[in-house]
Amino acid sequence: MKITFFTHNTFLLEVNEKNLLIDPFFSGNPFFNNRNYLKCIDFYLKKVDYILLTHAHYDHVCDVEFFSQKFSNVLVISNYEISNYFEKRGIKTYGMNYGSFISFPFGKLKYVFSAHSSVFSDGTYGGNPGGFLLHTNKGNLYISGDTSLMNEMKIIPIFGSLKISILPIGGRYTMDVEEAILASDFLKCKRILGVHYDTFEEIKIDKNESKKKFSEKGKELILLKMGESIYV
Ligand code: NI
Ligand code: MN
Repeated sequence: MKITFFTHNTFLLEVNEKNLLIDPFFSGNPFFNNRNYLKCIDFYLKKVDYILLTHAHYDHVCDVEFFSQKFSNVLVISNYEISNYFEKRGIKTYGMNYGSFISFPFGKLKYVFSAHSSVFSDGTYGGNPGGFLLHTNKGNLYISGDTSLMNEMKIIPIFGSLKISILPIGGRYTMDVEEAILASDFLKCKRILGVHYDTFEEIKIDKNESKKKFSEKGKELILLKMGESIYV
């Protein structure tokens, strides 16, 4: 399983020959100011089979239509309301809710609870916000999406142990570093890929200090640069 990070909560998961793009946020992303995000997309994203959307906020869904035009066979997977929103715009979608695991060619996927909000920038209701639990023959992964620390995280490892968890660490709208450390206890997962930081002024973090806080608790915080990948 390969994970490539594109800042914020945007990353590509490559597993079982399928490419899953999570929460695409390029065109409106302050990181790409004065940088050519289209060049970046052409370079890193040669194939996208699925787009997974955690919730309807602009910084998670703003490039869905762009990618569904670029990759005509793409399937958007999200909650029922977000799926409906994009289905009406002629995009192929798969809607679910907090419920069971669903089998896809890349593995089993479950839409799980997150403590946040979810509305499109045009005011359309975006259903309940969520995260994804992905079980594959290459290991299991949890993508929390934007969320505060919550008790519900404790049920995630009951379904199977996690190789890595992708958690927001920027604070204000989501967990901060200290809370993500507690989340990693709840998840029984020592390896955390930190996301949702530094994109905006109000979610700036001290990267070295954050890594140190994790390592003091015997945990690993992985922070990737734009376009950097890890194999898990
Ligand atoms: Ni959000
Ligand atoms: Mn967000």
